[in-house]
Amino acid sequence: MKKYKIAVIPGDGIGVEVMKEGVKVLETLSKLTGEVAFDFTWFDWGCEYYLENGKMMDDDGLEKLKNFDAILLGAVGFPGVPDHVSLRDLLLKIRQGFDQYINYRPVKLLSELDCPIKGKKPGDIDMIFIRENTEGEYAGIGGIEREGKEEEIALQTSVFTRKTTEKVMDYAFDLAKKRNKLNHLTSITKSNALNHSMVFWDKIFKEKKANYPEIKTAEYHVDAAAMYMIQRPESFDVVVASNLFGDILTDLGAALQGGLGFAAGANINPDGKYPSMFEPVHGSAPEIAGKGLANPIAMIWTIKIMLDFLGHESLADTVMKGIEGSLEMREKLTPDMGGKGSTSQVGEIICDIMSKKLN
Ligand code: NAD
Ligand code: IPM
Ligand code: MN
Repeated sequence: MKKYKIAVIPGDGIGVEVMKEGVKVLETLSKLTGEVAFDFTWFDWGCEYYLENGKMMDDDGLEKLKNFDAILLGAVGFPGVPDHVSLRDLLLKIRQGFDQYINYRPVKLLSELDCPIKGKKPGDIDMIFIRENTEGEYAGIGGIEREGKEEEIALQTSVFTRKTTEKVMDYAFDLAKKRNKLNHLTSITKSNALNHSMVFWDKIFKEKKANYPEIKTAEYHVDAAAMYMIQRPESFDVVVASNLFGDILTDLGAALQGGLGFAAGANINPDGKYPSMFEPVHGSAPEIAGKGLANPIAMIWTIKIMLDFLGHESLADTVMKGIEGSLEMREKLTPDMGGKGSTSQVGEIICDIMSKKLN
């Protein structure tokens, strides 16, 4: 039996609700198979913690997390704490502090679901975003000058290092090769307007492309890419994008696969020096929080990605089968899927299906 130490940060809003279901899935797998055991350590960091303690996480938070095999995060952010404080001091602090420079986000429409774009079938929507996750537009450098004056000015500097940009592109090219769908990589740019950062991005993409002659490529400006993702999603395989562009396009991707309730992801430190963190794409959804309305599938799919990452592909497949099976019971799904079910009922259904598959 393999044992894993998992740090659990449910965070805020629906993060707390979907996390319960994610952990339930892992506990079910452990009980049913005996193949894995999870030692969960829960951290109550988030906006409530901030309101009580004046900080989003402990001062030595990264030190406390550093020796876990993986981190699970629900979502962060809630009215009452400014978003730039809650996100910078917890979520982005972990992504950047642990050099999780790969943000891995699959966009795949499951075969049980209808495509929201007329005429497209599930197989047409199957791509993986590799989003640079530690720098770019999110470097956090800048400030407001001449505050209160007529000449007041805000500056926000993007940072693209050669080292990280190269590693992100290598990761994306390797994935396009390994994935063997179209052997295709799309690079998202905006070098017509961003004459420093994106011209640099394009230059490195060109250098890397020379090392992967078997991979076909496309380079689109982010605005055009948004349109192509709707018009011809089937032409996308692996996509590499900067931090901000990847953020925006993965919410668009979420819409193609049934909404944010289906969008899973991982923040990976491929070097293995620090733990990786697994979290769905969605946020804390304050307007539906505490009502049992959140779709837990994005979180449970995120658990599937974590199991793959830990090397348990067959358990990961079981989780996916549980998700797919649940989609056949439409009326029991959460309201975003047109159903009447609650977050915990959907988690329960997925666990039941997994149990039947494993017995
Ligand atoms: P959001 O993702 O929370 O919600 C966007 C929309 O999608 C809302 O209509 C919401 O109800 C719906 N939605 C999201 N997840 C859902 C789910 N699992 N099931 C059903 N519906 C779902 O984005 P937002 O409204 O822009 O942000 C709310 C808060 O979350 C803010 O504080 C924001 O900064 C934060 N946020 C955090 C993360 C994160 O922790 N990774 C990601 C995005 C936003
Ligand atoms: C995401 C979120 C975060 C991001 C926010 C909350 C900082 O939107 O994980 O996609 O922009 O990365
Ligand atoms: Mn986002």
